[in-house]
Amino acid sequence: MNTLSVNLGSRSYDILLAPGLLTEAGPRIRAAGLKGRAAIITDENVAPHFLSRVQESLRASGYHFSSHLFPAGESSKSMTEVEKISRQLIQEGHDRSSFIIALGGGVTGDLAGFIAAIFYRGIPFVQIPTTIVSQVDSAVGGKTGVNAPEGKNLIGAFHQPRLVLSDPQTLLTLPDREFREGFAEVIKHAAIRDEAMLAELEALDPLDQNVSPDLIARNVAIKARIVEEDEQETSGTRALLNFGHSIGHGIEASVPYGSLLHGEAISLGIRAALILSEKHAGLSPTASQRILKLLAHFQLPLTLAQDIPTELILEKLARDKKFSGGQRTFVLLERLGKAITCSSIPATDIPPIIDSLRS
Ligand SMILES: NC(=O)c1ccc[n+]([C@@H]2O[C@H](COP(=O)([O-])OP(=O)(O)OC[C@H]3O[C@@H](n4cnc5c(N)ncnc54)[C@H](O)[C@@H]3O)[C@@H](O)[C@H]2O)c1
Ligand SMILES: [Zn+2]
Repeated sequence: MNTLSVNLGSRSYDILLAPGLLTEAGPRIRAAGLKGRAAIITDENVAPHFLSRVQESLRASGYHFSSHLFPAGESSKSMTEVEKISRQLIQEGHDRSSFIIALGGGVTGDLAGFIAAIFYRGIPFVQIPTTIVSQVDSAVGGKTGVNAPEGKNLIGAFHQPRLVLSDPQTLLTLPDREFREGFAEVIKHAAIRDEAMLAELEALDPLDQNVSPDLIARNVAIKARIVEEDEQETSGTRALLNFGHSIGHGIEASVPYGSLLHGEAISLGIRAALILSEKHAGLSPTASQRILKLLAHFQLPLTLAQDIPTELILEKLARDKKFSGGQRTFVLLERLGKAITCSSIPATDIPPIIDSLRS
């Protein structure tokens, strides 16, 4: 068992990582001190694989619970779904003494975490992540929320989970595309904080879904340390995790939600960020090439579709949270493993970079 912790004073919590952990959900949640009724929130793809195992374990530990399924996919990260599920919870008799279990990928964690943040003004929640994105990134750190038609993640709250249970065996049932997508966030972590991880990723077979728990733990540790330093993204440290996410989110929000998977949009965003890094932070072209090659190794897209207009991406970009007060802050790489934030990039630089992603 790998045990990592996020140290945030009274909001501290553990991330437990072990194959087979799903079947121990009940006792682990009990040991974390969670009482009351549970509401399991999961999507319709994840439920057939894992819901009954979690339910059995909760039952054996004496928990009463209800289960709430929603349609899988990014388009469920919406206020409509928040209202629908919140009202189901009320109708099931949940109140401020209940807690939520988010069972699934990043969409489930962000949606269920946000419901936990606002239901009866906030109840505890547990993350049980079942995708690479969620195990290495989204289940840790307490960013919860949903999309607006105007842009990604614009409605949300900081709400830390009370426990994260990460079972790498769950990754075995991920469809190939959803499996590879997750490596965009892993490559992001390596690029901003852990150059040595690049070699490990280069040696991986992108079709082998037996992911080493140590690799997940290494990524969780990167995320956890950054969150400890800058929980609410005020000092600039946590912003480094947005590498590839400014233009990436702009692209993701410019197509119908879900037609590009999050990691796929971020792959394109990373390519744009590398071009900016070469121009404004002195990143060597060799370093850029190494990251691009790695994205291609996981068959992540590097070329933007011709039919997504640059103006639309720019419009979505302007609404991004990272552009607060009209100031555009980009995360750039100075070298592999070393990221910085930069607020002095002229607006006129961006459209040609987006255009250049088409070839
Ligand atoms: N909160 C954060 O800090 C943070 C960080 C990174 C990403 N995110 C968000 O995470 C989301 C992307 O997460 P994701 O890629 O996990 O998407 P997802 O939750 O939609 O999962 C991808 C697909 O895989 C299915 N699935 C999940 N686990 C499965 C399993 N084990 N076996 C079979 N199918 C399974 C899901 O039903 C879905 O269809 C985006 O909305 C992104 O904005 C949030
Ligand atoms: Zn991301």
